[in-house]
Amino acid sequence: MKAAVVLTPGEIAIEEVPDPAPGPAEVVVKPAAVGICGTDLHIMDGEFAPAYPIVPGHELAGEIVAVGSAVVGYAVGDQVAVDPSLYCGYCYYCKRARGNQCENWGAIGVTVAGAAAEYVAAPMANLFRLPEHLPARDAALIEPLSCAVRGFDVLPRHLASSYLIYGSGTMGLMMLELAKRAGAESVSMVDLNPERLATAVRLGCSAAVASAGELVAPRGFDVVIDCTGAEAAIRDGLSRVGRGGTFLQFGVAGYDARVAIEPYEIYRREITITGSMAVLHSFERAGELMAAGVLDPSIFVSHRRPLTSYAAALDQFRQGVGRKILIEP
Ligand SMILES: NC(=O)c1ccc[n+]([C@@H]2O[C@H](COP(=O)([O-])OP(=O)(O)OC[C@H]3O[C@@H](n4cnc5c(N)ncnc54)[C@H](O)[C@@H]3O)[C@@H](O)[C@H]2O)c1
Ligand SMILES: [Zn+2]
Ligand SMILES: [Zn+2]
Repeated sequence: MKAAVVLTPGEIAIEEVPDPAPGPAEVVVKPAAVGICGTDLHIMDGEFAPAYPIVPGHELAGEIVAVGSAVVGYAVGDQVAVDPSLYCGYCYYCKRARGNQCENWGAIGVTVAGAAAEYVAAPMANLFRLPEHLPARDAALIEPLSCAVRGFDVLPRHLASSYLIYGSGTMGLMMLELAKRAGAESVSMVDLNPERLATAVRLGCSAAVASAGELVAPRGFDVVIDCTGAEAAIRDGLSRVGRGGTFLQFGVAGYDARVAIEPYEIYRREITITGSMAVLHSFERAGELMAAGVLDPSIFVSHRRPLTSYAAALDQFRQGVGRKILIEP
């Protein structure tokens, strides 16, 4: 089969590689679509993936084309989305229901061959069956949505909270959609890119600004979410958390990023600073939200490209052009 292969950091090519065969409790999926995100850039830049060469692609949905001998409940032809998370199940954190902190953490498209290929193998346990009305080519959005759902799982839930979200890319926009449904009183969006803000406006945010200083919010915000990973945004966001409020670090900052905190203010204003990493028992619920129409794929997906354009699509994502780019292998 053909696959996009990151040969070494910085070097990617479309290559002929052996077709995957399903293990006993695995299926082989023909991806209808695979999304590109920051993780793929990290892999391209020599971070995250423990070994090269690696086929990237962890945001995927498609059709089952082969099933292993022990697979029950799924058959060739079924349409599924795939949770890429591979938890060991036996380490300290897995035993405590924190699989995303697994000491032997792995993921399809990061530590084992991913979906930027004509076929990909996946454990039966990781499948979400798509309802008939949800096309697999749109269901690649379930994986990033499942990360956003995990983010919401670590937030307090109070009706009428004010939200401030930094970053109006795919993830910030998903947070906006979830906050609207979580009973937000207001959702303000900050981004340096006016095109990205225009999408937030289209999705009904309360305010869309290039700098949070433009917002009138004397009490700050109940929930501040960083969906940029940018030091400047994180620093600014921490200063805008209101009394009793929560700051969620969702964006992936550089290893060397540093921001100062004010311990006195954290004490005085009872501020919570928390983080969320990838998927934790949130894939099934994201699938259900997607099936319920929480995300409009015609707004979230800006480009659909063939596998041969994988490298170009990575570059385009790096430049911040468009929104979610899907590869259709
Ligand atoms: N925690 C998780 O589970 C998880 C999952 C997926 C992605 N992420 C991370 O979330 C972040 C957002 O992902 P995405 O796919 O939406 O990325 P993206 O690059 O499409 O969007 C990021 C947005 O932030 C904006 N931005 C950058 N610097 C800014 C600043 N100083 N102030 C305001 N806006 C700024 C950019 O213009 C861009 O629109 C990334 O860091 C990504 O790695 C985390
Ligand atoms: Zn991703
Ligand atoms: Zn584990």
